Amino acid sequence: MAAQRELMARMAHLVAERRAAPGPDAVSRLLAHPAGYTDDELTAELIVVLGGGNQPTGEWIGNALRLMLTDERFSASFAGARSSVRAALNEVLWEDTPTQIHAGRFAVHDTELGGRRIGRGDMVLLGLSGANQDPSVRAGVPAEGNNAHLSFSHGAHRCPFPAQDIAETVAATAVEILLDRLPDAELAVAPRELRWRPSPWVRGVSSLPVTFTPVSPRGDS
Ligand code: HEM
Repeated sequence: MAAQRELMARMAHLVAERRAAPGPDAVSRLLAHPAGYTDDELTAELIVVLGGGNQPTGEWIGNALRLMLTDERFSASFAGARSSVRAALNEVLWEDTPTQIHAGRFAVHDTELGGRRIGRGDMVLLGLSGANQDPSVRAGVPAEGNNAHLSFSHGAHRCPFPAQDIAETVAATAVEILLDRLPDAELAVAPRELRWRPSPWVRGVSSLPVTFTPVSPRGDS
């Protein structure tokens, strides 16, 4: 709770700062939007963006790096793996998707799903990772070249397509730049020592320690 209060206070401070002195940044643009956010509304909105946009994109990057550092299909050629970055990102969406369970949906009418009665007003937890692992869906279909996972959810409130594109561009760029700058990066611990964050909602490694040759600012190592 203390951390949540601290986060709210910092976001509120940022909103107040940008309200007083707008700049070329996302917060200022949201403040200028015709929807007319109040400071309180925008503060809450930014925290949703942080949890809903920033965190899954960060976990996507980390999980793809974990895969590339631990799976010999990728790790054998980590330095030359630029071409397989998109394949690794896609495989992560099937096997270790950042948003494992999505909460905060409520049934708008009584219905039945998979033989279970769901009452109007019941909260529904979307088991996106479970859906991706469903053997009747996977049925031996390889992940490669297959984008039919539910990692961005589905329907009117799925992750908007432009957001998916932005997230993929951010994630692919992050991994590619890392490969360029630290081509000899190697996992510093045994893969089995890596720990997933203790969360039912989010999948990501708590840390990903690596060794690498530092590069000086002048470019020589
Ligand atoms: C730049 C990064 C991202 C932005 C700006 C973003 C934005 C959004 C927004 C605005 C929504 C709400 C849509 C609505 O309620 O109508 C949403 C939903 C969602 N996003 Fe994203 N997103 C980002 C990255 C990601 C990533 C990397 C993942 C997972 C791989 C993801 C998974 C989801 C899921 C599962 C939902 C919930 C859909 C539902 O309620 O069924 N998003 N996103």
